[in-house]
Amino acid sequence: MAMTIHPAPLNSGRHVIMTTQSARPLGRLAAAAAFSLFAVSGALADSAGVTFSSGNNFTEKTGEELYANVCAACHMSEGQGAVGAGHYPALAKNANLESSGYPIYVLLNGLKGMPPVGKMMDDDQIAAVVNYVRTNFGNDYKDAVTAADVAGTR
Ligand code: HEC
Repeated sequence: MAMTIHPAPLNSGRHVIMTTQSARPLGRLAAAAAFSLFAVSGALADSAGVTFSSGNNFTEKTGEELYANVCAACHMSEGQGAVGAGHYPALAKNANLESSGYPIYVLLNGLKGMPPVGKMMDDDQIAAVVNYVRTNFGNDYKDAVTAADVAGTR
C-alpha cells in the first residue's frame, strides 16, 4: 500500500505551519503559502515522507483504518516501529500504553519527531485509534478510552 499521504491544500491554512510571511497582506499570500508548504515538508523530513491527507481531517473512522493509514507509515504495520532515518518506537508490547491518557496526549500534542496527528482527528477517531493500539500488537489494556476522555485532554 502506498503510504504517501497528500499534502494539505494550500488554502487549508489550519495545517500549514504559520510563518511571519503568512501574516502579510493578500498579495504575498501565494509566496507565503509556497513558503509554508516548504516549511511543512521540512518539518516532516524526518517522518518517512508523511504529510497529511487531503482536507483538514482524516476521514477514516475505525481504529484499524486510522492505524493503517496514519500510524503505520511510521510505526509500521504490526506496530514494530523502525530505525532508519529516524527512530520510530514500537507500539507493539509497549508498556507506556498502559496509561490510557498517554497516547491521547501524544496524538494531540506530538512528541519530538512525531507530529500531532490527532489534531486532524475528531474525539471519536482518537479514541478509536488509541483503543486499537492498546488492544493489538501484543497490548491488552482493556480500559477503553472514550471520546469524552479525549475531549478532556484537548
Ligand atoms: C510521522 C511519523 C509518525 C506518525 C504518522 C505517527 N507517529 Fe507516533 N511516534 C513517532 C515518533 C518519531 C515517536 C517517538 C517520539 C520521541 O520520543 O522522540 C512516536 C511516538 C509515539 C508514541 C509514544 C511511544 C512511547 O513509547 O513513548 C505513541 C503512543 C505513538 N507514537 C502513537 C502513534 C499513533 C497511535 C499514531 C497514529 C494515529 C502515530 N503515533 C503516528 C512518529 C510517528
